[in-house]
Amino acid sequence: MPKFTLLILPGDGIGPEVMAEVRKVIDWLGRRRGLAFDVQEDLVGGAAIDAQGVPLADATLAKAQEADAVLLGAVGGPKWDGLPFAQKPERGLLRLRKEMDLYANLRPAQCFEALADFSSLKREVVAGLDILIVRELTSGIYFGEPRGIFTEGNERVGINTQRYTESEIARVARTAFELARRRRNRVCSMEKANVMESGVLWREVVTAVHARDYPDVDLTHMYADNGAMQLTRRPKQFDVIVTDNLFGDLLSDLAAMLTGSLGMLPSASLGAPGANGRPTALYEPVHGSAPDIAGRGIANPVASILSFAMALRYSFDAGDEADRIERAVGAVLAAGGRTADLMGPEGGTPLSTAAMGDAIVAALDAGAG
Ligand code: IPM
Ligand code: MG
Repeated sequence: MPKFTLLILPGDGIGPEVMAEVRKVIDWLGRRRGLAFDVQEDLVGGAAIDAQGVPLADATLAKAQEADAVLLGAVGGPKWDGLPFAQKPERGLLRLRKEMDLYANLRPAQCFEALADFSSLKREVVAGLDILIVRELTSGIYFGEPRGIFTEGNERVGINTQRYTESEIARVARTAFELARRRRNRVCSMEKANVMESGVLWREVVTAVHARDYPDVDLTHMYADNGAMQLTRRPKQFDVIVTDNLFGDLLSDLAAMLTGSLGMLPSASLGAPGANGRPTALYEPVHGSAPDIAGRGIANPVASILSFAMALRYSFDAGDEADRIERAVGAVLAAGGRTADLMGPEGGTPLSTAAMGDAIVAALDAGAG
């Protein structure tokens, strides 16, 4: 059987450090579970700007489109902040999302039992939390035209456009309904239909897709501002949340903090399934490049390792191996393994990035998985 291909794009800041730990888990699967991947590595973001002059070279994009899945670290940093907008590291990531047509961004927020006290909310509000935000990723205000800074009369005006077609809304709604069926069968759709026409259309299309093909799923609607409030008030009321690109960006950061640390949260960005049945796919941690701690070996590699677990589940039909990795992470945390971002008031000695990766591999070895 031909090996699956993985393209790793470590990117900037802590990206290379955390992706090195993902490599250990990939190697372990090959060694111990007979699941070997053909792994290639390339540049994206600031690292690509420095070496190749652009945040995503055409050749890298071509490799990404060929690969069975892409694993990305993080992009950006102060070094490239002064660049014109169209040349910034973030454009590399946005181009990958757009050109690979990765329209559904899955951002689970699960609270590990051992970390329930790390949330800024009370333990009882977050313990056992397991929600999934499905964020539309290739349209909306991130990509709508017209956009730019223009001159009107004697002053400048900054313009971005929120734009959604019916088919763009329908396809991401389908993803949310399909995923809900494999979970607790509930979808809450969030927009601002009270002030935005795109929100009115969003609500209409989600309602129609539901009535036509998913009447068995429990669907509710909420204005996104109320959604933010409800997520902090009683987050466990939700199962799957489906929302647009910008609201999804905000709400997923909010949901991330419910779980105690941004360093824990993975994501999957999926396109339509190809001829082989697999979706085009990119997996990345929700956290950014964290330039303030880059190069110090203290970053938390768990979000990246869990992103690889999502790749196993959604791209490679290896949900049992994904479960194994998630259980190994849970076991390390339960045994007190903590990177610096997870140190509570009780203190202790944090694990380095590499030591956390090693501990997870050891837990896999010990069959904690
Ligand atoms: C995210 C990030 C990106 C976004 C940036 C880095 C372009 O915040 O993935 O949530 O805004 O989508
Ligand atoms: Mg974001």
